[in-house]
Amino acid sequence: MKKISIIGAGMTGSTAAHWLAERELADVVLVDVVEGMPQGKGLDLLEAMPIIGKDSSILGTNDYADTQDSDIVIITAGVARKPGMSRDDLLTTNAAIVGTAATETLKYSPNAFFIVLTNPLDTMAYLTLKKTGLPRNRVIGQAGILDSARMRAFVALETGVSVENIQCYVLGGHGDEMVPLTRHSNIAGIPLREYIPADKLEAIVNRTRKGGGEIVNLLKTGSAYYAPSVAVAQMAEAILKDKKLIVPCAAYMQGEYGLNDMFFGVPVMLGAGGMEKIIEYKLDADEKAAFEKSAASVKETHAALKKLVQL
Ligand code: APR
Repeated sequence: MKKISIIGAGMTGSTAAHWLAERELADVVLVDVVEGMPQGKGLDLLEAMPIIGKDSSILGTNDYADTQDSDIVIITAGVARKPGMSRDDLLTTNAAIVGTAATETLKYSPNAFFIVLTNPLDTMAYLTLKKTGLPRNRVIGQAGILDSARMRAFVALETGVSVENIQCYVLGGHGDEMVPLTRHSNIAGIPLREYIPADKLEAIVNRTRKGGGEIVNLLKTGSAYYAPSVAVAQMAEAILKDKKLIVPCAAYMQGEYGLNDMFFGVPVMLGAGGMEKIIEYKLDADEKAAFEKSAASVKETHAALKKLVQL
């Protein structure tokens, strides 16, 4: 069985463990600083396996040594957003946590792929790449699958069509300036703009952009975890099964879309080589402008990080 270690056994970490084990994709190790909690959650999930007939083993621990020889490391450790808190407010606290998580796990799993979930997402992925010194195919951020899934869910609510028929593509930074590409999104091949009246589509785009905040405001004590963690499970599955799956993810840019030395949400191909390829869409002038606005916002957070941490 393959091995996946999840750093941070909170809501997203433990729910990711659930999705992964339920699909028998790997043995799972859950690491957290809180004593007893990852052990308790790990044991609870392990005890669920006989009922669903899956042979994934799950181990909760406070010791990074238990992550030895992981194929994939998923970083969710950090502080979740509270109401009124922007993703960028999280920067200082989470940079210290993610930096340690990345370097500690790399010691024990020098060949692992890293999937980052902690916010501010693009910048935490950037920090992981720089701290580990890994090539860009081995460090990917989860954001676009989630943002696109939110848009797909809202389109399904609006139209009553199966989510399976709805393809949406949300690119750009994982922040309020993210770029829902309505021109490329479609329902069973019919462009979204032809299927949904303009005002309704605009409302869907706005709700997608604020999708994370909507849940934070409802939960009051944390942020979304079901959809973010299943998005991570999809990424892990694509890598482990060498699926060559094209999905939007945060990737390290080296000239693509005119961007350099930053993470940004773009369509990538996931397979046995991790982030194997960045796909470049042809963008029109409006889309390019939206990309640039979103990129400027990510660059700002990257710059703030560089002031805090020596990279
Ligand atoms: N090492 C390991 N785990 C840590 C560390 C650390 N240094 N510091 C904090 N943690 C753990 C916490 O103990 C907690 O269990 O990280 C976990 C975070 O879990 P939650 O607070 O439940 O947050 P969650 O909803 O999982 O979100 C985590 O993912 O989606 C993003 O915005 C979200 O940045 C946040 C992250």
